[in-house]
Amino acid sequence: MYRDLPMRFSEKMRKIATGRAFSSAGQHLRHWLLDWRLPVKLEPQAIIATMDRAKFQQMYDRWGVDDPACEDWPKYLDLPRWIDINIQRVRDTGLDLASRKRVLDIGCGAGYFAYIAQLLGHDVVGLDIDRLPMFRESTELLGVRRVIWRIEAFVPLPDLGNRFDLITAFLVCFNNHKQTDLWGLPEWDFFLDDVAKHLTPRGRLWLELNLEHDGTFYTPELREFFESRGAKIDNHKVMFNSGVRAPASVSLAAR
Ligand SMILES: C[S@@+](CC[C@H](N)C(=O)[O-])C[C@H]1O[C@@H](n2cnc3c(N)ncnc32)[C@H](O)[C@@H]1O
Repeated sequence: MYRDLPMRFSEKMRKIATGRAFSSAGQHLRHWLLDWRLPVKLEPQAIIATMDRAKFQQMYDRWGVDDPACEDWPKYLDLPRWIDINIQRVRDTGLDLASRKRVLDIGCGAGYFAYIAQLLGHDVVGLDIDRLPMFRESTELLGVRRVIWRIEAFVPLPDLGNRFDLITAFLVCFNNHKQTDLWGLPEWDFFLDDVAKHLTPRGRLWLELNLEHDGTFYTPELREFFESRGAKIDNHKVMFNSGVRAPASVSLAAR
């Protein structure tokens, strides 16, 4: 616990320096004033209490490891940690205060984000490859609807029914994360055009990228490209809050 203190202090200083302290204080006030309306308390223990713990324990026994903090897939079985992370995602994306929204969560993994959003009354579809039995089991257990689909460069998404108010992707891997054929501008360009077809006119796209081998989330060119298409960027978060703009007239092939 004490190990965390210097980190927390430096994070607080950074927040003050960047003005984030004010927006964070505003957020706390907003939650304090409005959270009473929610059908479930947005706290890890309250969310975990809504789950079938016996079945989850069976799953844990099958897939768990001694150290759930390890950076392997079973890390997702560390429920308090991941539920906490996903409560924050739900708050960040504004789903805690929004009226019923239709949401697509790409690469939904264990399904925690979708599950919490569903508890709040949203209509959520997860999309994922069916590689890990653990994710299959977890999403089934949580009652999260999944479309099984592998996102590939220059291949459009399948028919997903009605358009979405919000499309999310957290810890993005479909961009060939950490592989030699990591997506560049042309692949992202195609993906953004395609995703836009699945969004309502005021729909939002919220991406959270993974760290690549070189310790960055994106190249300066890719950052500039995202911004040219309307993204607001905060570190690993790439947020298209007012739709996905048509591409600026840049030659993608040249980059
Ligand atoms: C790092 S995990 C993140 C899971 C979840 N979004 C989270 O943050 O807890 C990446 C997810 O993307 C999925 N995934 C990887 N490649 C994919 C692809 N090409 N198409 C669709 N999903 C993919 C994985 O199966 C996994 O669920």
